[in-house]
Amino acid sequence: MTPDPAEAAATAMARHRHDPHELLQVLREVQESCGWITPEAIDCIQARLGLPRSKILGVATFYSFLHINPCGRYRILFSDNITDRMLGNQVLLDRMCRNLWIERGKVSEDGLVSVDSTSCTGLCDQGPAILVNGIAITRLSEARVDEICDLVREQIPVGDWPAEFFRVDENIHRRDVLLGTPWLPGAALQAAMARGTEALIGEMKASRLRGRGGAGFPAGLKWQACRDAPGKARYLVCNADEGEPGNFKDRVLLATAADAVIEGMTLGALATGAWRGFIYLRGEYRFLLGHLEGVLERRRAAGLLGESILGREGFDFDVAIHVGAGAYVCGEESALIESLEGKRGTPRNRPPYPVTHGYLGQPTVVNNVETFASSCLVALKGGAWYADIGTRESSGTKLLCVSGDCARPGIYEYPFGVEVRQVLEDCGARKTKAVQVSGPSGACVPAAEFGRRIGFEDLPTAGALMVFDESRDMFQVARNFVHFFAHESCGFCTPCRVGTSLLTQMMDKLANGHGSPYDFAEIEKMNLILQSMSHCGLGHSACNPVLTTIAKFRPAYLRRLAHEEFEPAFDLDRALGAARQMTGRDDPAAHVLPEEAT
Ligand SMILES: Cc1cc2nc3c(=O)[nH]c(=O)nc-3n(C[C@H](O)[C@H](O)[C@H](O)COP(=O)(O)O)c2cc1C
Ligand code: SF4
Repeated sequence: MTPDPAEAAATAMARHRHDPHELLQVLREVQESCGWITPEAIDCIQARLGLPRSKILGVATFYSFLHINPCGRYRILFSDNITDRMLGNQVLLDRMCRNLWIERGKVSEDGLVSVDSTSCTGLCDQGPAILVNGIAITRLSEARVDEICDLVREQIPVGDWPAEFFRVDENIHRRDVLLGTPWLPGAALQAAMARGTEALIGEMKASRLRGRGGAGFPAGLKWQACRDAPGKARYLVCNADEGEPGNFKDRVLLATAADAVIEGMTLGALATGAWRGFIYLRGEYRFLLGHLEGVLERRRAAGLLGESILGREGFDFDVAIHVGAGAYVCGEESALIESLEGKRGTPRNRPPYPVTHGYLGQPTVVNNVETFASSCLVALKGGAWYADIGTRESSGTKLLCVSGDCARPGIYEYPFGVEVRQVLEDCGARKTKAVQVSGPSGACVPAAEFGRRIGFEDLPTAGALMVFDESRDMFQVARNFVHFFAHESCGFCTPCRVGTSLLTQMMDKLANGHGSPYDFAEIEKMNLILQSMSHCGLGHSACNPVLTTIAKFRPAYLRRLAHEEFEPAFDLDRALGAARQMTGRDDPAAHVLPEEAT
């Protein structure tokens, strides 16, 4: 750890050419060196980058992995997706806090360690997972928790912890054309260059390849729109933010097929005329940074990146990696661009769209990791070949990230159109009650609907497919998702900031046995407000998990309705319980009688 924050800041700024747009990277690197972003580091950044202090603080406080106060030399964050919960993360978190004598969310008195939770870390197939100083540890168990506590107490540097802790498996259980076609780096580019730039866009359009990040916009049309937009420069962004709980296929693609992803970006550059590209890598995948830098370096050495790619004069393109810092909303393409420009990740007003006004106001393509990787197949095999796979509305294959109650969680690649039932059979799911397709913002599918198909016609998904067996309470699943949205709301617009928080209070109220049918009506009302008045997709989909579970699993909610009439969320008598305990009184006079409370 560098003891001198000013020196750490100076080194980070020099590495980023004193470019104010690199502010987030500078702050992240200072934090990596010093453990937190100290006032001295901020002074230094303010002086050298010429940025107002309020802006630096505004950025530093937006991202949940950045800290402007000391936060423990060992910063431990438990992944808190519903699948981590199903694997017992809460018990393990309590055990660690007990073991280390600390309170959750607080730094130990000696400043050694802090333990808290974070949103899904993209390791649902090998949870429960944690991040220690930003680096992922998988398959937590009681024994591993105890070992970690010992290592922390003995102050062993994280780099010297057993390598086994940090093992991240790929768990690929089914390959189709994307994961199963052998090809050599450069082959897709050579095929595209032989056909010509116009023909490449033509093949992309013919392939009907739709974006794999969720919304499904045709990739060929996006590339063409960017190429045709007026501008001084064009940019390409690979969206590897992958924050949707239950999703982890981009992690696996970057780990096993980074060449295909980067070659897809280079194809995009050939098609659009972009000279610079970025991989926006979510902070939780920091452990992939070294590997990705290595692949970029290898490709530069092979003439597949840099100047005059594959010997073609004027075909210049290179890629930089930007690491995020814990903000789900940065997956939204305009928020991602703001973040790339060194700002808070607040979604922009759209239109104008990034294809005309993106990074630094210039035409920019933002595509998902899987979209770029799939474009290599189009270049290699042709648009018609690709369009022949899958269904009419959804050509090609899709990587599904299966997690939850099944024998073989992991990655499954299928042609679009596969039935949910087939996926459940292949992953060894038993007695399945429901499947959540596409994470919290997606659809909850009950057993009666397992004949439904994955694809834009029926069940669109960015990839997540979480399995819940008969033992699971779908109300608690929805409650976890609602808490996720409230935690991740960027706070920019009031309907979402307040609405997601009210929604969590309503779900907590139901969970605490104070619900009434009145609350259902309130939830419906909240949905209308969030749908019509939120600024971005996060707010639009925040009520989805509740509405779909109320529709499909109503008894899970009805069980919690203790009252037919409205019931306030606050129970004064229960709130006084702690005081009764402290004073050792539990006689009738120490209780608030129902008539007194009203
Ligand atoms: C709140 C929110 C989060 C998103 N997160 C991601 C993400 O992590 N990865 C992604 O590719 N797209 C994400 N998207 C969609 C992107 O805005 C964008 O549509 C996508 O990156 C475009 O790439 P594609 O056309 O290849 O799908 C998100 C959208 C919203 C509203
Ligand atoms: S809808 Fe939510 S996440 Fe989106 S801009 Fe508004 S506050 Fe931010």
